[in-house]
Amino acid sequence: MSKTEKLFYVTTPIYYPSAHLHIGHSYTTVLADIINRYKKLDGYETFFLTGSDEHGEKIEKKSKADGITPYEFTTKIIANFKHLWEKLGVEYNKFIRTTDHDHEKAVQKIFSKLYKKGDIYKGHYEGIYCVSCEEFLTESQLNSETSQCLVCQNVPKKVQEETYFFKVSKYSSFLVNYYNSHQGFIEPETTKNEMLNNFIYPGLTDLSVTRTSFSWGIPTIEDSKHIVYVWIDALSNYLTALGYLSDDETLFNKFWNNDNVEILQIIGKEIARFHTIYWPSMLESLGLRQPDKILSHGWILFKDAKMSKSLGNVIDPLVLIDKFGRDVLRFYLGFEIPTDNDGKFSYDLYLESYNTNLANNIGNLSSRVTNMIEKYFEGQLPAIENLDNALIHEIKITVTNFKFYMDKYNVSRAIGKVLLLCQNANRFIEFSKPWELAKNGQQAELQGVLYTLAYAIVVSAFLLQPILIDTSQKIANQFGVDLATLSFDNINDIKNIQFNKKITKGEILFQRLKIEDEITNLNK
Ligand code: MSP
Repeated sequence: MSKTEKLFYVTTPIYYPSAHLHIGHSYTTVLADIINRYKKLDGYETFFLTGSDEHGEKIEKKSKADGITPYEFTTKIIANFKHLWEKLGVEYNKFIRTTDHDHEKAVQKIFSKLYKKGDIYKGHYEGIYCVSCEEFLTESQLNSETSQCLVCQNVPKKVQEETYFFKVSKYSSFLVNYYNSHQGFIEPETTKNEMLNNFIYPGLTDLSVTRTSFSWGIPTIEDSKHIVYVWIDALSNYLTALGYLSDDETLFNKFWNNDNVEILQIIGKEIARFHTIYWPSMLESLGLRQPDKILSHGWILFKDAKMSKSLGNVIDPLVLIDKFGRDVLRFYLGFEIPTDNDGKFSYDLYLESYNTNLANNIGNLSSRVTNMIEKYFEGQLPAIENLDNALIHEIKITVTNFKFYMDKYNVSRAIGKVLLLCQNANRFIEFSKPWELAKNGQQAELQGVLYTLAYAIVVSAFLLQPILIDTSQKIANQFGVDLATLSFDNINDIKNIQFNKKITKGEILFQRLKIEDEITNLNK
């Protein structure tokens, strides 16, 4: 494999198909999609994986209550997952189901490998188990007065059963060394410190990895009454989806077993422990490389609480998409929710952000510029002359900054740079006053102003392609520009932008909304 090959592998958590997905799940997946689309734009060959985590007691119980098999139950819900991703324009390469035959076979082999290595042993487990979170809990994860799980508010049950353990304790010093020698392996830094201080330094306890009290899972080859407990099953998906331990390991050798591939795994912070402690230990035990980064983002809060099914405060992304379009939701998630902290959602915030950034800034700029080109030049931009050097400089800086932040997966700040460019381009219209140039017959200056503005908006559309998937195309169409001809290598030279048609005032990209009216409608 040559060093120059640009390869990128990005994963989302595989979601539990126990209920519909809300905008919290959409956040992780849209973030992955935005980064993946950006990488493709930057010339990478990419592989984007998402999927569903189907085994476990909770699904077994729910399907029983509905009188159908667990597989029938999850199949129905997964159709909704896929429908949502399609509506949101999420372009994944593979949707893995942990019930896929290939996955099940590979998980058995992974378990056997860990077992043969001496990293899995039989013992007894006694503890408190939260069925809803599919997790054994420690006292610190419970409300001390009510004994409720702090995440989902359900009361966990006491269990005692024979189980196989994975020897995580053996990997303590490996983890500390790895974290220390790979700055940025876990992001944000606070999550890394939390893992060290709360779990690793106090002493890791081995992880129970099989169960006997229910049957909806993958039986182990070694002891078939034991089924692989959700996390070994679930985490393995990142490898099995690429064909690890199957007859065809081509994808695995390309996108994992290869030091040249950049691997990004995006998760929400409540599953950071599994992805930053157990997962790296599993990989080390299997003799495999680590991902480059585990990006553990915060939660979307609704009325100051984590948006979650069990709290019943979820926002259905489909409603937002149907009402305002997918670009608006992609924009809100990419720009308004930071990756390194919790973010908020409310209808007010959503609509305010829409008006400020999409209607008044990007939309307004595009319509003003197309309008003026139609009015003053009959839609035909003349030669590239008299450009505004300051704005040209700013456009170039924006491209550099956008790339800088996207390369760090800081989508929000990257988008912020484009918004700033649009704001400044709008201001440039105010002080260059094209209408006065026209009145005074200063055709040459007018032409330069409008040409530079057209360049600014086309570059903005180019950069925003991974986020505003429909609107960037619409802008390009209004200017008769084929975005496919543009790249990070040629965008900095204005001569590479071909305006291939008569530019006319097109449809309004983002109609300004009356927030109160919209909220009344949404609450109906
Ligand atoms: N099945 C496990 C993951 C296994 S990965 C090998 C699981 N599934 S889940 O359906 O509960 O999804 C959890 C993920 O959904 C979080 O990690 C996060 O990506 C996303 N989110 C769920 N609620 C969220 C918010 N309120 N805010 C942001 N993200 C949230 O855990």
